[in-house]
Amino acid sequence: MEIKILKDPFPHAIITEVIPWDLYPQLKFPKLQKRNNTRAGWDLFKGEKRYDEFFAQDPTWKQAKDILDSEKLIFSICRAFKDELKLQGIDVDRLQLIDFIETPAQLQMGHIAFNRFDHKIFSRFDLQASDGTTLRAPHVDHARRIFGGVFFLCDGEEEGMVGGDFGLWRDRQYHGDRRPHDCELVVTYPARHNTLYVFLNRNDSFHGPKPVSHISGTRKWAYFSISARQNVWATDRRSISPLQRAKNLLEDGARFCQYHLSNLKTG
Ligand SMILES: [Fe+2]
Repeated sequence: MEIKILKDPFPHAIITEVIPWDLYPQLKFPKLQKRNNTRAGWDLFKGEKRYDEFFAQDPTWKQAKDILDSEKLIFSICRAFKDELKLQGIDVDRLQLIDFIETPAQLQMGHIAFNRFDHKIFSRFDLQASDGTTLRAPHVDHARRIFGGVFFLCDGEEEGMVGGDFGLWRDRQYHGDRRPHDCELVVTYPARHNTLYVFLNRNDSFHGPKPVSHISGTRKWAYFSISARQNVWATDRRSISPLQRAKNLLEDGARFCQYHLSNLKTG
């Protein structure tokens, strides 16, 4: 594994050979059913029963999972950005990796906890695939995500993909509200096997793929993140009105209740 750190337009890193090369070629990407209202359309989310079943039935994928979830990888990333994290009040030496899984409702919620950041972090990775029509426009991830990332499990050229590179964007009308206004593409990185592009998920860390104009195969990757349960990136208070702030909280509450009510109904 090799980590290359870059600073512009926001701190990020390129990590190559995440999975040892004697193991990586044995990983066969699963055939996923298309689902609506998910991130990429074809997804396998941590916390789902079928996610656990998939990794349990394939020893090679289980080994890969152990590497992606490992303290070694998580803390290598955190340590590489020690100074940037310190600016945010995060002391890398105090971080503790915990086993925490977001529920499907929490995945959609902006807030899942309101207490002070306790230096407890958790990671998740989800398998994703796309035919190029379901990719997200530039955005920043939830404010509880300290790092976000894309771990490619394909090669753009092999998939006949034009576009689809991982892009870092700059918002020309940046407001500090974690919403994109007028984003321009600054840097792109190609889809390459066994390569993780990871970034500090600051208020200005707008990221998203370059639009796909052609693809004959499938874009295959794992969404990767390192998070706290509390939001670690505070928006500029002047950028969101009190009314909008209240509305966001109400929507979070509605998603939380909806999920738990539907669980009660289905037992
Ligand atoms: Fe993202």
